Amino acid sequence: MQRRDFLLTASSAMCLPRIALSQGAPVTLRAEALTQQILPTQYAGHTSVLGFNGSVPGPELRLQAGERLNVRLQNGLDTGTAVHWHGVRLRNEMDGVPDLTQRLVPAGEAFDYSFVPRDAGTYWYHSHYVSHEQVARGMMGALIVEEATPPDVDHDIPVILSDWRLTEDGQLSEDFGNRHDIAHAGRLGNFAKAFLPPVGLQVGQRVRLRLINAATDRIFPVILKGLEGKVVALDGMPLAAPVPIEQPMLAPAQRLDLVADVTGPVALEMDHRMGPYPLGDIPVSGFVPPRDAPIPTLPVNALSKPGTPARHLTLAMMGGAMGGAHDGANIWSFNHVSDMPAEPFARFERNETVRITLRNDSRFPHGIHLHGHHFHEIRPDGSLGDFRDTTLVHGGNSRDILCVFDNPGRWMLHCHMLTHQFGGMKTWVEVA
Ligand code: C2O
Ligand code: CU
Repeated sequence: MQRRDFLLTASSAMCLPRIALSQGAPVTLRAEALTQQILPTQYAGHTSVLGFNGSVPGPELRLQAGERLNVRLQNGLDTGTAVHWHGVRLRNEMDGVPDLTQRLVPAGEAFDYSFVPRDAGTYWYHSHYVSHEQVARGMMGALIVEEATPPDVDHDIPVILSDWRLTEDGQLSEDFGNRHDIAHAGRLGNFAKAFLPPVGLQVGQRVRLRLINAATDRIFPVILKGLEGKVVALDGMPLAAPVPIEQPMLAPAQRLDLVADVTGPVALEMDHRMGPYPLGDIPVSGFVPPRDAPIPTLPVNALSKPGTPARHLTLAMMGGAMGGAHDGANIWSFNHVSDMPAEPFARFERNETVRITLRNDSRFPHGIHLHGHHFHEIRPDGSLGDFRDTTLVHGGNSRDILCVFDNPGRWMLHCHMLTHQFGGMKTWVEVA
């Protein structure tokens, strides 16, 4: 990594705009170039970034399950774009993938998204056009769908994790999609931080943290300090019962919700081979008596129950540096096919349950994301594991998933290390 490998993080929380939506009130998201202090203030200089409505991350969009989200994307960039609502089970034509589900929104034009998120949970939105660059430049934000009866907490805090590759003068390094990054672990920044809303906490309070990994390629192993609680949801979907926190690991695009009681100064760090790296902290002062109630289980979302799979497919991740030989035309491939094929990886009947082995034949980890659906990870003992939209498979490993393809349309299936996606690791499926 580069000289600026280790910088201090900003301890001051930045003010993130929040848009609370009610009953389908329309909101405009304006994609635009702006400058923002990304580095801590002791380092000079605003960074030129791309954001929404004047900030990076874009505004937090918050609504209730069952409410309609009406968003006009106004493209104020000098290039095309489109917005994907990551993890949301929605109508295919609202999924935000240029060429597959909609036309690219050219510079200066607009596109209206309108859908009703079916499931409460922690989601996010991001550019899905040259996303390895547009997301790295800042085009992402939180999308929070609240439960009808949210759990009893004092604060509900979305935490967007990201990393940045900055030059000595605090500007984004312009080497997006270089061959070395593509063939290795992707574009890893030399600076990382957690974007936290400006809340203050008291010891004894109960909080819900919604961790969102919005980095293009970095896996975040997160150390949480000053909190005692449990994980209650992964990728937006409630766990059957809360589990102890230990050390959460978030692949790009993954989310993790936890409910915890404040026991002292709250800090987030990244566990790094060169030592813990501070990501951000939340000021704590004062004391309130803690709750006696146990950490609650979130109400389940209504998802199709998997049947017995009639088909078992294999998706092999191939390519990259250090021996990833394959026949694909780009650096990465699925099953020897690089880039978006004209024909889908598979066609499914509506409501078909399918088992897919995600086999990583390469030397690098990949976070595989399926649009429009969640799927069960299958544990080594064959039981149904976590329910996710993005699953991390380490080099040389494989993971089976079970998915009910119940959402009609054309859905992307790709590595969410966005630099790997750019390097060819993407395909799509079609559900009748
Ligand atoms: Cu989060 Cu295909 O995207
Ligand atoms: Cu990958």
